[in-house]
Amino acid sequence: MVKIEKMKRPIGIFDSGVGGLTVFKELTNLLPREDIIYLGDTARIPYGTRSPKTIIKYSLENTKFLLSQGIKVLVVACNTSSAVSLPHLQQENEIPILGVIEPGARRASEVTQNKKVGVIGTEATVKSRAYERAIQGIDPQIKVVGQHCPLFVPLAEEGWIDNQVTRLTVQSYLLPLREKMIDTLVLGCTHYPLLEGVIREIIGDGVCLVNSAKETAKEVKRILDEEDITSQGDSNGSYKFYVTDNAERFIKVGEIFLGRELKGVEEIEW
Ligand code: DGL
Repeated sequence: MVKIEKMKRPIGIFDSGVGGLTVFKELTNLLPREDIIYLGDTARIPYGTRSPKTIIKYSLENTKFLLSQGIKVLVVACNTSSAVSLPHLQQENEIPILGVIEPGARRASEVTQNKKVGVIGTEATVKSRAYERAIQGIDPQIKVVGQHCPLFVPLAEEGWIDNQVTRLTVQSYLLPLREKMIDTLVLGCTHYPLLEGVIREIIGDGVCLVNSAKETAKEVKRILDEEDITSQGDSNGSYKFYVTDNAERFIKVGEIFLGRELKGVEEIEW
């Protein structure tokens, strides 16, 4: 009885803003029948340049809000939040709370052949060395090289996913990584899957790109199946988006990220 009630509950997902829609998109592809509540903390983005103390505070507030919505699982779509605050969020909870680091790290350690993995992300993510810890926790022989790429976030939000400025920016960040002879590169930020085409062009075909958003969606599916709380509905799930500021911009940029119309967006105040 309790389980049936749980199956019907939505999945909760939060990000510092619009970027988590890359995770949302993968979730809807893999689990089309699930209802989803998304929270984008657009009033306080970016998280990637903030201190761990502030990132933890914001992430705890986002978690509290989503837990109050009666969700059955919480997905921390933001790589920065996941890297810095996940253990804090996981304390004293009754539902599964997962981030994007472990799933991405697992995949990277599976696919690397030469045991040299690159990780790109925000400054806070790279500084936290969370991917490095997770990857080396699986295989201590793997060498991990981190590189923060802060300009990728505004480029993706501007929709500049394939132009000269983007190409030059990607080159400046990634050529030094290429010289380190990595064979696997983790896209450790919500926005980077949008730049995958240019990243692939610059880093070369010999490097396997790991999309943490895709891996996380697979992990959510595994957890729902394992706990036997996958939605049994026969129609597509419904979606609700909450933002903490500027719903208009969230919709505009979100539609670039999703490649389709974005409805059901509501602005909230803490
Ligand atoms: N969502 C963030 C991440 O994945 C990128 C944007 C930000 O800095 O807040 O790390």
